[in-house]
Amino acid sequence: MKVIAIANQKGGVAKTTTTHNLGVALAAAGKKVLMIDLDSQASLTISVGLEPLEMQRTIVDVLKKDGAPVRECIQPLRENLHIVTSIIDLAPMEMEMLSRASREKILDRALNPVKADYDYVLIDCPPQLSILTINALSCADGVLIPVKTDYLAYRGLTQLQDSIREIQELINPELKVIGVLATLHDTRVTDDREILGLLKEEYNLLGVVKRLAAAKKGIYDGLAVVEQAPNSEIATEYKAVAEMIISGKMKRGEQCHG
Ligand SMILES: Nc1ncnc2c1ncn2[C@@H]1O[C@H](COP(=O)(O)OP(=O)(O)OP(=O)(O)O)[C@@H](O)[C@H]1O
Ligand SMILES: [Mg+2]
Repeated sequence: MKVIAIANQKGGVAKTTTTHNLGVALAAAGKKVLMIDLDSQASLTISVGLEPLEMQRTIVDVLKKDGAPVRECIQPLRENLHIVTSIIDLAPMEMEMLSRASREKILDRALNPVKADYDYVLIDCPPQLSILTINALSCADGVLIPVKTDYLAYRGLTQLQDSIREIQELINPELKVIGVLATLHDTRVTDDREILGLLKEEYNLLGVVKRLAAAKKGIYDGLAVVEQAPNSEIATEYKAVAEMIISGKMKRGEQCHG
């Protein structure tokens, strides 16, 4: 399980927060990690402390026709944690991508030359089932789905699962659903507790990340929760998910097949 897409077409479910924290946690565990910001909002880029408009080469250069080699577009954050940043120009790029042959495989083809350099490639997807998300799912070995514990987010999972199934059938039969990660969970709210119960029953629940102020503290300094509050409940949960990824046990206490 090397290439992992963090995806959900629903907005604000902590996709970017999850990508950042897992990236930092995997790197802290000694793994070599590449994070890819695939969202024109560039939230991951900003979260790691970079200015989107100041970057010379971004994901746009990787994806455009006759684009630059991905190796030239990678920014090192530290020795074993790298990123391909995003920028607002990624939005109009989608139109160009749609007009190309084998448009679903543009990212896959671009990433191939550097895959061997990394233990993990984490892709932060945009909040749409767009050609960008399809590209991420088409090159991923696994998809991890962060989901808020509210009813509409829960209902949105059906649509996401349909799209994943279609991609498995038509483009990427190797794609596995790693599981869902409950996020922004408020234990005091009845609805949150009920939805968490449904997620536990119906999905492979990887963990529960509570809604806590600690999540936002490091954002101005480009720090993930696992770095700025390593003993917080949020950090503990993200580190546990990183451990599950490393061990290949995608259920707590159970071996994942494949
Ligand atoms: N555990 C948490 N507790 C409190 N706030 C959180 C937590 N996780 C994430 N947040 C906050 O929730 C908001 C949405 O998170 P994030 O940007 O990671 O979601 P997203 O799914 O990537 O959003 P988008 O769909 O816009 O890309 C952010 O302001 C983030 O700081
Ligand atoms: Mg995001």
